[in-house]
Amino acid sequence: MTTNPVRITQEGARSAAADALIIGVTQGTDGPVPASGSEDVDAALGNTLAATLSALGATGRQDELTKISSGGATAAPLIVAVGLGKEDQGGERARLESLRRAAGSAVRAVNGGKTRSIALSLPAGDAAETEAVALGALLGRYSFTRYRTTDADGAGTANSPSLTVLSGAAGADEAVRRAQALADGMALVRDLVNTSPSQLYPETFAAEAAQVADGAGLTIEVLDHQALADGGYGGLTGVGQGSVHPPRLVRLAYQHPDARKTVVFAGKGITFDSGGLSLKPPKAMEAMKSDMGGAAAVLGALQAIAALKPQVNVVGYLPMAENMPGGRAQRPSDVITIFGGKTVEVLNTDAEGRLVLADALARSAADTPDLIIDVATLTGAQLVALGPRIAGVMASNDDLATAVADVARQAGEQAWPMPLPEELRKGLDSTVADIANVAGERWGGMLVAGLFLKEFVPDGARWAHVDIAGPAFHEGEPYGYTPKGGTGAAVRMLVQVATDVADGRL
Ligand code: BES
Ligand code: MN
Ligand code: ZN
Repeated sequence: MTTNPVRITQEGARSAAADALIIGVTQGTDGPVPASGSEDVDAALGNTLAATLSALGATGRQDELTKISSGGATAAPLIVAVGLGKEDQGGERARLESLRRAAGSAVRAVNGGKTRSIALSLPAGDAAETEAVALGALLGRYSFTRYRTTDADGAGTANSPSLTVLSGAAGADEAVRRAQALADGMALVRDLVNTSPSQLYPETFAAEAAQVADGAGLTIEVLDHQALADGGYGGLTGVGQGSVHPPRLVRLAYQHPDARKTVVFAGKGITFDSGGLSLKPPKAMEAMKSDMGGAAAVLGALQAIAALKPQVNVVGYLPMAENMPGGRAQRPSDVITIFGGKTVEVLNTDAEGRLVLADALARSAADTPDLIIDVATLTGAQLVALGPRIAGVMASNDDLATAVADVARQAGEQAWPMPLPEELRKGLDSTVADIANVAGERWGGMLVAGLFLKEFVPDGARWAHVDIAGPAFHEGEPYGYTPKGGTGAAVRMLVQVATDVADGRL
């Protein structure tokens, strides 16, 4: 995956040999202000940069793009000025996200066509800024071309351009290494999510995981259909039984010799969610190849963690099944037995994610984890509550939900804490089994799903549930470093969780 890594250099922007040179511009009160990193370019242009940008109508608005021909004044023939918004828009997190987005927007704007090399001379005064620029650029360069027989010019699929980040910051090399690990993990997730579900089903997804594990030095164990049936994984076998592609449970492990704590990540791996016999309408099915986004995020995070080597043990569970309405499919009113023995009345076969996750959560007791995080494209209600870009975080207690949402935001992802109100639990009472998989009332659907999962969390464990139904898949126009399709949501958050647990912060 680490093809074409980012180069880092301290050389001056005017001599950077690239097809395109990206600089920043902020939104000043009296017009556009060339940002730090553009000084050398401004000097090469005879200090005309601000005037030129102004004349071209630039304002410095976030992600605004202004292209200038260098006329030979810089080694790069094309200068791209990207807006960074108002200087001082509130704190370091906002500033770093502004850099990531600007780098991503600018790289997207020049990627493709004849551009073979891109240099970025954005504000990169310290390691954190350098990482933000590199990460935004790498994520902005991503494209999914597997199924294209020709590109827009009809010339065959393009190779991606080289990236050079101009930074003299202390720790710049390490910062770029971190950006590279995160970007590789997210690109893996994007590829897996974007892959046609006719090609990505439990067996092939597990094979991909094995390949990643092999490359990253992770240990892997794969339970096939027979092992799941023998082991009593009734959630996975129940959800998977309507498909010609049988389910799998993948367990990945990263170990650090000096680790004092163990974190478990579990990700929903429904490779396609038709709804089962509780069939979805066609429109609602269109994005359902992304229903394995949680499992992919756990895989991508583990790959990055293996590269970054935090001092903690991490176990990843990827429960994989295809939810289809075949002749052997589970029926509304079927009772199944989850790993560990609790019974569930399946009243709606479209509430399948919680069933496969229940198996994984119950199984994770064997790892005696200090913290469990599950990530899942679990409910449409998440989109209703928080919109398409903000993940909902629920937890065994509200302080933990707040802490995990904060870790996500620290890592550059949007997330917000949500409650698990006890009074909603009785809606899941079943007339025949220990619990039903859906409530009679639809209110608080994201929270009800969280309450269901809570029943399968090992006793006393610290646990958080992250609903990424919206964030995992982007249906609108690309923005910043986010393309259409798979986004790579939750990778950065999970890596940050591992790092924070290793450092005793979580
Ligand atoms: N995979 C869906 C949730 C989803 C919806 C993800 C939209 C991304 C975008 C999940 O399996 C599902 O179908 N949930 C149902 C639950 C309901 C039956 C209680 C839902 O949200 O409608
Ligand atoms: Mn469903
Ligand atoms: Zn689903």
